[in-house]
Formats: sequence, C-alpha cells, structure tokens
Amino acid sequence: MALERGAGPLGIQIQDQLRAAIRDRRLGAEERLPSTRRLAELLGVSRGTVVDVYQQLLAEGYIEAAAGSGTRVAAIPSGLPARQPPDIVAASASASASASSTGPAEADFGYGIPDLGSVPLTDWSRAVSEATRTLPTAELGDEDPAGSRHLRKVVTAYHRRVRSGCAVAEDAVIVSGFRQGLAFALATLARHGIQRIALEDPGPREHDVIARRAGLDAVPVPVDDHGLDVGRLHQSGARAVLLTPAHQCPTGVALGPSRRRDLVAWANEVDGVIIEDDYDAEFRYDRQPVGSLQGLDPARVIALGSVSKTLAPAIRLGWVLAPPRFVAGIVEEKRLSCRGAPGLDQEALALLMESGRFDRHLRRVREIYRARRDVLAAEAEAAFGPGRLHGLAAGCHALLRLPDGASERAVVATAATLGVRVNGLGHYRFAAADAEAEPDPRPPALVLGFGNVSEHQIRRGIRALATAVQHQSRPLRNDNPTPTH
Ligand SMILES: Cc1ncc(COP(=O)(O)O)c(C=O)c1O
Repeated sequence: MALERGAGPLGIQIQDQLRAAIRDRRLGAEERLPSTRRLAELLGVSRGTVVDVYQQLLAEGYIEAAAGSGTRVAAIPSGLPARQPPDIVAASASASASASSTGPAEADFGYGIPDLGSVPLTDWSRAVSEATRTLPTAELGDEDPAGSRHLRKVVTAYHRRVRSGCAVAEDAVIVSGFRQGLAFALATLARHGIQRIALEDPGPREHDVIARRAGLDAVPVPVDDHGLDVGRLHQSGARAVLLTPAHQCPTGVALGPSRRRDLVAWANEVDGVIIEDDYDAEFRYDRQPVGSLQGLDPARVIALGSVSKTLAPAIRLGWVLAPPRFVAGIVEEKRLSCRGAPGLDQEALALLMESGRFDRHLRRVREIYRARRDVLAAEAEAAFGPGRLHGLAAGCHALLRLPDGASERAVVATAATLGVRVNGLGHYRFAAADAEAEPDPRPPALVLGFGNVSEHQIRRGIRALATAVQHQSRPLRNDNPTPTH
C-alpha cells in the first residue's frame, strides 16, 4: 500500500487498511495476498510487522492460510457489513466502481465518476436559487410524472443540438438517472411482450440484474473491435438490446458505422428495440462525437441520458427519449414508483442548460479529461511499452492490455496492496457468473477510469501498476474471467 502513514503503530495501520479493503471488497474472497516477505518489501516495513498483521487478520477471520497455496482472503461472513447486498456485489461493483470507498488510495481508477473537484457548484446553486424564485407556485404541488415540461423541452433541444437526435418534449420522461430510466424502459418493454434482451459482453454486470428484475431474460452478445457483434445479436433470439455506442463500457470502442446500420436493420427485421445508453458521448477528443442512434431510427431506439457524468452522479437526473408507443408506459412506471422527479431540481437543471453554463462546463472539463488522458497515454507507454492502451478516443476510461500470461486477478490484488483501485476486464464478463459462457478470447487487461484521478495520481498509479505486474504470481491460467472484487 503506499501505506498512508498516519498516527499509531505501523502494524495497526496496515491491518486497518487491509481490513477495510476486504470489508468493502476491493480484495475479494479467495484472492491471494502477497507473501509476508514481498509485502514487507513493497511497504518498506520489517517482515515481522507483516507476519503480525497476517496473524491478527487470520485470527479475526479476514484471511486464511492454506498449506501450499499461501495466504488468501477469506469468504466474508454474512454478518459482516457489506456495502451492497451480496447478490448485487459481483454485478455492480464495476459501475461507479470504488470512488465511494473510504480507504486511502494512490489512485482510484474506478470508472464512471467525473472530476468531482470540477462540479460547477456555484452555477448549480445559482440555478437552484433562480428556480426557487421563479417556479410558479402551482408547480410545487402539481408534478407531472413525465417530468417538467420545461426540462423536457430543454433536454430534447440539447439532444437534437449536441447529439443529432430528433426527439421532442412529448417523447421525453425525466427520471432519476440512467439506471432508473433503464429499469422503467425494460418494465415497459416486458409489458409490450418483449421477453429477452441482449447485453454487451463485456459490460456492467448489474444490467442483467436490472433486466431480470424487470422480468426479462438477459443474454450476452460479444463486443469486438467494432463494438457489439450484430451477427451474434441475430442469433441471440433477443428482441431488445442495450448498448453503449458512443464509447463502449468498458472496452472503449465506438460502434462502427456499418454496425450502426446493421443494428437498425436488425431491429426492424425482428420488430425489436434498441436501448441506447448515451454514455460518455459528450467527451470525444479526436473528432465531433458520433450522433445518437436515436436520430437514426427514432421509432426503434429508446435513448437514455443522464447528468451523472456531465455534472455529478449525486444530482440524480436523467431522461428517457422513447418512441411514442412506449412513453405512456414509462410515465406510468415513474408515477407508480415515485410520482415524479424533484420539481425544483428539474427547473434548476433546465435553467442551467438554457443559460449556456452547462455547455461552458462541458468545454472546461473536456480539456481536463484530455490532459489526463494524455498523461495516462504517456505514462502507460513508458511503463508498459507502445500500443497497450485502447479506447482513448472518447470518454473517461481506457483499456490497458497486460502482457500475455499476466493474471488480471493477481495484478488487481497486488495493485490493491499498493493503494491502487482498478478492475480487470474479466470483472465485466458474463463468464464471471455463467459457467457456460464462452471463455474470454481477449488478452488480460485492466479498465482504467481517469475521470476523477489527478495527473499526479495517474503518474503514481501507473507506476504502481507496473510494479504490480512485475510482482504478480504468474502465470495463473483461465482465471481472467473471474470477478476480481
Ligand atoms: C455504463 C453506464 N451508463 C450510465 C451511467 C450513469 O448512470 P446513472 O445515471 O444511473 O448514475 C453509468 C454510471 O455508472 C454507467 O456506468
């Protein structure tokens, strides 16, 4: 760990940091810990200190030692406080990965969190204050479950202007972020007779949990260097698909032009629906962002937008832009679940977007992300050689290919001991939970989110990752598809 040296004996500090990593599952059950000698070297402490730490954690049940296989993290007893219900842990730890964890870190490469230091709080507070002064009194008591008409007009105008969409206010439902929009859209599709949805593999594993809760059967469809494999989508038997065309999560590829056309052709052929997670679309560095699929086929595409990346996840506002036949169903889901979105916040967001300050904020953070991305590229090349970083054309995460034979799990576990939080690509694979899924043909890789890490942290983090790759126990075969946290 780049041991965060605080007050008190070193051994106690190491213990506390390891315990915290196991409790919040940055170190998962059965992950192998470095030998006492190796950890002592890495931390610059005496071996005796680490032996004492391990003995203490063994006694407390956090870790276990098995003859011949070193020291491993024990399965966490169910009574132990977990950050999330166990059935969701494996699926969801990827999204907004670990930024909410409390332990000290050299670098947190969890993806999905924007630069929290840049959230335009002054602009937001000005917009909230204006909303409280100007919102008609009647609207304080009479919320529309579809969302405020003002915000629906503003977000659809924004989507037309910035994302080349073609939705109008009547097509929009305001929701509490992408996930809620997804859950409501899927519940509505289920009521329209759609039974199976295809999900990108690799992709965030909580999406299949959300799909199952909505009553749909979720099937994986592989992603290759051009995005979702539409040929395989045809074979899947699904009539709906959820995908991230602008910047695939987590591989970072953009859906290729012919794939976009093939996808729309597929939807028309099977009378299907494309759910577009318009994720990372605002942050394209090499060219204008590719337009939203919704603009390509508004009758077949449900577009989901959110300000979690462009402003902050805590604002919890997003939108669903749906073909007219689904709008009433989605509005009804919203009404039954929570009656509507917060009126003052909706008005504040509408005012912020209309004022031009939202666009100004995007221009500013785009430059911050561009600079971080450049540092990441340079550091990764220096540490691992050329051509190892992929998916950098857009967004705030990239894929770092590890040397052949490297074990994602071992690198992730060792990186955690060095204070670096990161996920392996296998963490996003369906194969992690499905013994019948195909083995992962991809070489081992790490998913590096760089939205909320400073350039300084990126430098330190990449160097620590290089150390982790050097020191991992290798080769561990066939272990890459297994979840790491
Ligand atoms: C793939 C993907 N889409 C969208 C989002 C935004 O989700 P929400 O609006 O629910 O915060 C995230 C954030 O974690 C994500 O990982």
